[in-house]
Amino acid sequence: MNKNVRKAVIAGNWKMNMTPSETKKLLSELIPMVEGKTGCDVVVCVPFVDIDTAVAMTKGTNVKVGAQNVHFEKNGAFTGEISADMLKECGAEYVVIGHSERRQYFGETDVTVNLRLKAALAAGLTPILCVGELLDERDRDVTAEVVAMQTKIALLDVSAEDAKKVIVAYEPVWAIGTGRTATAEQADEVCGIIRSVLAAKYGADVAEAVTIQYGGSMKPGNAAELLSKYHVDGGLIGGASLKASDFTAIVDAAQ
Ligand code: PGA
Repeated sequence: MNKNVRKAVIAGNWKMNMTPSETKKLLSELIPMVEGKTGCDVVVCVPFVDIDTAVAMTKGTNVKVGAQNVHFEKNGAFTGEISADMLKECGAEYVVIGHSERRQYFGETDVTVNLRLKAALAAGLTPILCVGELLDERDRDVTAEVVAMQTKIALLDVSAEDAKKVIVAYEPVWAIGTGRTATAEQADEVCGIIRSVLAAKYGADVAEAVTIQYGGSMKPGNAAELLSKYHVDGGLIGGASLKASDFTAIVDAAQ
């Protein structure tokens, strides 16, 4: 990454794991382990029901809390949904938007990703916008087009000032939870493509300022190499974020 203009962000995506009591246990291990490691921002994106516990436990520490989804309307008859204002008031600072599991299993589209992103920004949350190609798309050599399209639609009607606040996570779908990681060169190449999409839309200053993470089977053994790449500014970590020692090792790799 370019340390002169960007700070790494290492974010755990706990997915549908950890009850509040398990959250207490994991964070009581993790918080002392990452204490004082200020070379990157450390975030845990937890299930909605764990936000309260996580916010209380991380108060005054260098660990920040995020959610894993947000609805785009402010309020109303949307049974089961959670608004950006609700997350904000609970103390969440980040929110994952457009994760491939939401796109695959819950009908998330580029258009609803855009709506959620704007709702998050309006409430003062930092969106972690996920983009990434399917294996079939990579095999057909349309990775650049897919990722560019997802990024452009997600940022429709988002100002340059707001775009700077967005974290983009490049997550090749074939690398998520599969143990199959993109090579550092592949990750750097696609993160670079995303940065060039941002440059075309907003100019080089904005593009250079935006944090672009890699996600997909990032773990202690491959984090340092991935994070050494110019365009890779951190990681969105699923499986390895559920173990304090593994997550800490990735935080260490980003120092
Ligand atoms: P993984 O998940 O690290 O378990 O591959 C990454 C993600 O889905 O964000």
